[in-house]
Amino acid sequence: MTSRNKLLIIGASGHGRVVADIAIKMNRWQQIAFLDDDEEIQSPIRVKVIGKSNDAFTYINDYDIFVAIGNNKTREKIQTQLGVAGANIPTLIHPSTIIGEKVEVGIGTVVMAGVVINCCSTIGEGCIINTGAVIDHDNVIEDYVHISPGARLAGTIKVGQGSWLGIGSVVSNNVNIISGCMIGAGAVVVKDITEPGTYVGVPARRV
Ligand SMILES: CC(C)(COP(=O)(O)OP(=O)(O)OC[C@H]1O[C@@H](n2cnc3c(N)ncnc32)[C@H](O)[C@@H]1OP(=O)(O)O)[C@@H](O)C(=O)NCCC(=O)NCCS
Repeated sequence: MTSRNKLLIIGASGHGRVVADIAIKMNRWQQIAFLDDDEEIQSPIRVKVIGKSNDAFTYINDYDIFVAIGNNKTREKIQTQLGVAGANIPTLIHPSTIIGEKVEVGIGTVVMAGVVINCCSTIGEGCIINTGAVIDHDNVIEDYVHISPGARLAGTIKVGQGSWLGIGSVVSNNVNIISGCMIGAGAVVVKDITEPGTYVGVPARRV
């Protein structure tokens, strides 16, 4: 589908504003606006709130639409609905990102400032690859995963759909993390996680 010259970002919270900043720096859209369900929300940047999230469906023919909601399940729900309705959903990549050969990044995914993604890794749809994260070679990050700021993933790691790796977490090479996991801030994952749940500590253990 051809991309539009206007972009709508659903969600004007802190995460949404970082997303907007990346979109501005990409220099690809002539106009950028937010949708948010919170009537009180104020945008301190030059991107303004022009309606509520449901209004997205009426803008589908005029705007590219990006879902900037931190909760993985909510983001998945809204992005899926928009996809079914025929929305053009872009991929947002900060210009400072370092991306290796044969890296694929899906639609609706944002890759933030200072991220490194090395050769032959695949990032799914609707993911958040947050500020300064490192995803080394041959990783498979499935759809709607959030890799928080400063998380570091070694080589040949798989992260299942919708899982969330907390800020500063570390994953050793050749480890699989199943779908439905929350890896706590600073946790170090050294072996496969095969049961959904919350894991914290060094080495990471289920709580
Ligand atoms: C793991 C996490 C989800 C748990 O949150 P929670 O369910 O609200 O748990 P609580 O804060 O009630 O903590 C429960 C216990 O686990 C401990 N704990 C929580 N997070 C921990 C962590 N990351 N590492 C080690 N221990 C942790 C708490 O100290 C507490 O221990 P206690 O019972 O002995 O007092 C959360 O602490 C966390 O790490 N979130 C990551 C946030 C993040 O990365 N944000 C980035 C956004 S971009």
